[in-house]
Amino acid sequence: MAPEPEEPSPAAGATVDAPDRNLALELVRVTEVAALASARWVGHGDKESADQAAVDAMRLLLDTVSMDGIVVIGEGEKDEAPMLYNGERIGNGSAPEVDIAVDPLEGTSLTAKGFPSALSVIALAERGAMFDPGPCFYMQKMAASDELAHLLDLDRPLPETLGLIAKEKGTDVRDVTVVMLDRPRHEKATREIREAGARIRFISDGDVSAALLAVTERSPVDLLWGIGGTPEGVITAAAVKCIGGQLVGRLWPRDEDERRAALDAGYDLEEQLDRDRLVTGHDAFFAATGVTDGDVLQGVRYSSSGATTESLVMRSRSGTVRRVKAEHDRSKLRELSGER
Ligand code: FBP
Repeated sequence: MAPEPEEPSPAAGATVDAPDRNLALELVRVTEVAALASARWVGHGDKESADQAAVDAMRLLLDTVSMDGIVVIGEGEKDEAPMLYNGERIGNGSAPEVDIAVDPLEGTSLTAKGFPSALSVIALAERGAMFDPGPCFYMQKMAASDELAHLLDLDRPLPETLGLIAKEKGTDVRDVTVVMLDRPRHEKATREIREAGARIRFISDGDVSAALLAVTERSPVDLLWGIGGTPEGVITAAAVKCIGGQLVGRLWPRDEDERRAALDAGYDLEEQLDRDRLVTGHDAFFAATGVTDGDVLQGVRYSSSGATTESLVMRSRSGTVRRVKAEHDRSKLRELSGER
């Protein structure tokens, strides 16, 4: 298949790695359908049903994509997750061979409460490119735009980094804003940020959306900091490879058992994992559709004729970032979500 017009042409003699299709353009149908299915549960106080609706819809559409995919980041182990479990093979089995990371509903509680910034997300990369988090549930993360990327270092004290960010921006540290999950485990960092004089935007959930905001130049936040899900870290890394900016993560075992399991499996718990370590290679694809309205994407909106969705569709090799607004017919919605 011919490359898209915006793809850079390979240098003479260089080989072009498959996949050469922009799979993100096909994946956006998958996140749209998951967002449409879960959006019916917004504010219903039932995060499990919202998540299940997203998983079922995503699974249905994923099988229509021509690929030989393996779920590296999914809904957990096979016996806990009937669909989209880690290791599951997805697609019709034809080339290209890819790794898949899914979060059919990123922000299950956000959706259940009708809070902002719930998304449906999927990322793809060449086979073997995605970091497998193994037993590690959490990762310490920092993310910022290209302008501040060189300042991301998990070993440097946070107040010092905030000072350097202010200097780089040519502002006072009081003008620096950190976005952070509101969690008791962030108590020390919260104190440090406040003592340094910087500002905090707390979020109750959804650090993928927060990281996308943090890596965007001239956005209302300068830095994402905090301990959040490792799967979300890998998915975010795929997005950051496409959109620009940097994410640095470090595995953060919850307890001694998890620490021991990670060490036994050969993980280096000191290593700072940047976006190119979390997702290697040059060809990552990312698609996300808003479920509830947020800073990055508009959520699903209903009208008399159906619903509209807004999505981000990106590919790292070309650096193309598309914002796709779609109108969906009411009958299709009924089929997906059993709409009354
Ligand atoms: P869910 O959609 O699975 O509920 O995850 C939302 C989320 O807030 C992520 O964005 C974040 O990385 C993780 O949960 C944080 O985990 P915890 O809620 O255990 O602190």
